[in-house]
Amino acid sequence: MPGLFVTFEGGEGSGKSTQVARLAARLRALGMDPLVTREPGGTAVAEGIRALLLDPERRPVPLAEALLMEASRAQLVATVLRPALDAGRICLCDRYADSTLAYQGAGRGIDRAQLAQWNTAATEGLSPDLTLLFDVEPSLGLRRRGDAPGATNRLDREPLEFHERVRACYLELARSQPERWVVFDASLGTDELEAQVWETLSPRLSRTRV
Ligand code: TYD
Repeated sequence: MPGLFVTFEGGEGSGKSTQVARLAARLRALGMDPLVTREPGGTAVAEGIRALLLDPERRPVPLAEALLMEASRAQLVATVLRPALDAGRICLCDRYADSTLAYQGAGRGIDRAQLAQWNTAATEGLSPDLTLLFDVEPSLGLRRRGDAPGATNRLDREPLEFHERVRACYLELARSQPERWVVFDASLGTDELEAQVWETLSPRLSRTRV
């Protein structure tokens, strides 16, 4: 695969979306043209699915929630990510398949092997080159998120134990595949984190063409 596929993972209020934006700005300043997207969402179809998924007034059962995440993912991979990577671009994706293992697996209790199979089907086997985990105590993350007006979605409102299971799952995934994951302490300030992300990413940029 000619491009470079980087995913950003973490709990609520981990600041990862800010880091996606900061990294994209640095790449653009170098004259690169990164593709920046997010899950669920990132295409017209998938943004429709996102609205349904994050609406606090709706209550999909866990299985329906998982399958909607996969439907959004399938659309994003086929129509946006795969073509951009084939064209040699660097792709920054705010959440990806690991979010399903953490939230629908550890959080909701759906069998992880089943979710992994669905992930493989939805992504057609497209795995990130690098996954950046923004690790933060859920109590701190939720407090940060709560401070941002209008920022809570349906999943933010799950109890603390749910978010603790999500965090533990992420850390386990990172330990099990250290060649793909890099863990950052997301309690650090935004500028410090940006510098650490850049230190991790910049040596890998020579692989991409645009
Ligand atoms: P968003 O507002 O983008 O939250 P964040 O800034 O934390 O990424 O909402 C995305 C929500 O969707 C978030 O609570 C995590 C959840 N999610 C899943 O539960 N499973 C998934 O597979 C994905 C991609 C996201």
